[in-house]
Amino acid sequence: MKTRLVIDADRPVGDISPRIFGSFVEHLGRCVYTGIFEPDHPSADSDGLRTDVLELVKEMGVTVVRYPGGNFVSAYDWEDGVGPVQQRPARLELAWHSLEPNTFGTDEFMAWCRKAGVEPMLAVNLGTRGERDAVDLLDYVNGDAPTALAQQRRDNGHEEPYGVTLWCLGNEMDGPWQVGHKNADDYAYLATSTARAMRMVEPSLELIACGSASWEMPTFGDWERTVLDHAYDVVDFISLHRYYDPDVIADDASLVASGVDLDRFIAGMIATADHVKAKKRSDKDIMLSVDEWNVWHLASYEAQAKSFEGWPVAPPLLEDVYTGADALAVGGLLITLLRHCDRVKAACQAQLVNVIGPIMTRKGGPAWRQTTFHPFALAARLARGRAYHAVVETPLVETVRFGPVPAVDAVVTWDAETGRGSLLALNRSLTEAMPVEVDLGALPVEAVASAQLLRPDDLADVNTAEDPDRVAPVGHEVALADGRLTVELPPASWLAVELTGREG
Ligand code: AHR
Repeated sequence: MKTRLVIDADRPVGDISPRIFGSFVEHLGRCVYTGIFEPDHPSADSDGLRTDVLELVKEMGVTVVRYPGGNFVSAYDWEDGVGPVQQRPARLELAWHSLEPNTFGTDEFMAWCRKAGVEPMLAVNLGTRGERDAVDLLDYVNGDAPTALAQQRRDNGHEEPYGVTLWCLGNEMDGPWQVGHKNADDYAYLATSTARAMRMVEPSLELIACGSASWEMPTFGDWERTVLDHAYDVVDFISLHRYYDPDVIADDASLVASGVDLDRFIAGMIATADHVKAKKRSDKDIMLSVDEWNVWHLASYEAQAKSFEGWPVAPPLLEDVYTGADALAVGGLLITLLRHCDRVKAACQAQLVNVIGPIMTRKGGPAWRQTTFHPFALAARLARGRAYHAVVETPLVETVRFGPVPAVDAVVTWDAETGRGSLLALNRSLTEAMPVEVDLGALPVEAVASAQLLRPDDLADVNTAEDPDRVAPVGHEVALADGRLTVELPPASWLAVELTGREG
């Protein structure tokens, strides 16, 4: 059976927020130290930032970066990470059982963001701290008034306020592993009063309340309802975190089809948020921030974590080496996020470098692209403007975990301002090629500018420092005639087609 998509140019899913192409830098393992920051590295600039990594981040098209955690933030005192470096204290880092030297902190992160051309998304500590510290950090970061904290930033060499808009109210506070873990009511009170206090300083902030740490948490649904019952009027987003563990999922077909699970999670979160909206007779929609998502070999982390003794600085934690199958899963997850772009207005692939990252580095050595780098980079470059989802016909393929799923998942995007668009498509069948036809309707597409196919020779193939391009996209044949795209998707492949046409 042929897969058919029919686009109605007048019925987009919604506007794509560029913030869908976000990432995450946590003080965890080698994400910061020897990841983005390594003063002794041959490529380091005067701020100690690795320029080889900065170049890859730009190539990847990352738009927004969450910082400084993650679990790390729940016991973090931001004051430890500002001021003269020699005077900063080293601390026990509880979340990842490491030693935190604090030689990288808020100001260094802001410098990195500027150089990377990304928007910062800062998280405040609602584990061990609360309203006072959140407001203090806000004053240090954004303050323009003659306050002690704004002056401290100026004295530290940063005259201009940073103007950070996006703030996370804590991290995964429902997780028992979190320092300062809370029940839903306690978190809801704290998040609400922190949001109110932060808005007293800056009413226009965009605030993200913590949703459940995962869809599998027993409290999912009730947690979000409780949090939004309290915080609805003072927050803009609720967060979703979702990881797919290939060792748990076990079969490649299910892993590649992980997008169907993220679809259900997003639908569940929208239903929960809208339930509170209805109860409140509100006309405001809460948006979704999928601010941690990825493939993560979580089970192998548990074993790895136990192999360290003492309190090491930047130990090699969560250094997943991604396979071809993992890259296809990531490609599928990106399609899911785009298909929900009416409500998913921010998303962060977790994380950026070394720690479950699309970019890997060696201390003192090279940086390279993991397999998962490629679908992200292609989608971030091409998928702008508005998204259209219209698979009207496609066969089903069997998966162990999710049962029968649509063989082809796809999204079309079109940016009327630039007259550019894309088709992103995943063939979830590991054995059958899929012929695909896309009726572009009234979209003013005139040409196929490029088509890149990710089709690993072997689903287990990986990229390494020695063989960095083993899994990489290659050109593919796509035909355009009479307003229709036709293409054959090989088994287990992900395609990114660049379309050009008239503006408007
Ligand atoms: O991204 C790794 C960890 O996963 C984060 O610190 C935490 O928020 C999540 O559980």
